[in-house]
Amino acid sequence: MIAGKHVVISGGGTGVGAAVAKTFAGAGARVCILGRTEETLKAQNLPYAVCDVTKADDVKAALEKARKEFGVIDIAIANAGAAESVPFSKMDQGTLERMMAVNVTGVFNLWQAAFYDMKAAGWGRMIAIASTAGLKGYPYVSGYCAAKHAVVGLTRSIAMELGPTGITANAICPGFVETPMLERSIETIVAKTGMSRDLAAKSLRKGNPQDRFIQTGEVADAALWLCSEGARSVNGHTLTLSGGEI
Ligand SMILES: NC(=O)c1ccc[n+]([C@@H]2O[C@H](COP(=O)([O-])OP(=O)(O)OC[C@H]3O[C@@H](n4cnc5c(N)ncnc54)[C@H](OP(=O)(O)O)[C@@H]3O)[C@@H](O)[C@H]2O)c1
Repeated sequence: MIAGKHVVISGGGTGVGAAVAKTFAGAGARVCILGRTEETLKAQNLPYAVCDVTKADDVKAALEKARKEFGVIDIAIANAGAAESVPFSKMDQGTLERMMAVNVTGVFNLWQAAFYDMKAAGWGRMIAIASTAGLKGYPYVSGYCAAKHAVVGLTRSIAMELGPTGITANAICPGFVETPMLERSIETIVAKTGMSRDLAAKSLRKGNPQDRFIQTGEVADAALWLCSEGARSVNGHTLTLSGGEI
């Protein structure tokens, strides 16, 4: 089922995206990864295209490059994202716009650039790596939460609209995952509160009833399952990986 499928993954050079890329490649898929930093993309030893997902033309050009490598696109995994933490009282419009640009517009750009390939094939899988922040609020990250909620809305709406096409759209919503993004969040807490690294990590971990951070491979396995034949009726779903937090 997955073997031979052409999968594009944004933010595939690090963290969750790199793990998803590895898992799909391991399952025999033809994987192309996208991101802004050539060095991290190159390190994955997979075909890649440098692009900024906030720019529609960049994404279109990247997918053209991917098509030259592997043909039409079957699966688009919109994983690129960023989180800025700032109290609401100090947050400016620029923060909100940056959060929306990468976390929402970036998903839209990737999915739309891949849409016509999937429509013509009568089969396709659109997956967003959203977050539990797409389903509940967290303090100090209102821009990020607003953007991830928007991704969930986009996913649910597209799922309804594309139902007859053979394309599904789903969002995976993990809690804190052990990646460079999490490390930056821990560093921010340490810098702003003077807490030790261990206490800062514990303060984030404790929201998960299992008292642990999600591993990137768990997100990758969920994405792989969403592309399996057994998941063909799963559409417009928010799959939480949060140890029961949601
Ligand atoms: N870590 C967590 O706790 C957690 C929890 C829930 C959800 N998530 C979500 O999981 C996804 C992956 O995050 P991660 O934890 O793996 O963090 P990460 O290691 O920082 O990965 C983010 C990736 O997105 C890419 N990216 C960022 N802005 C981009 C842009 N404008 N254009 C193209 N690529 C861009 C980055 O590459 P470049 O900078 O090179 O472009 C990077 O490879 C994100 O959507 C995040 O919101 C993470």
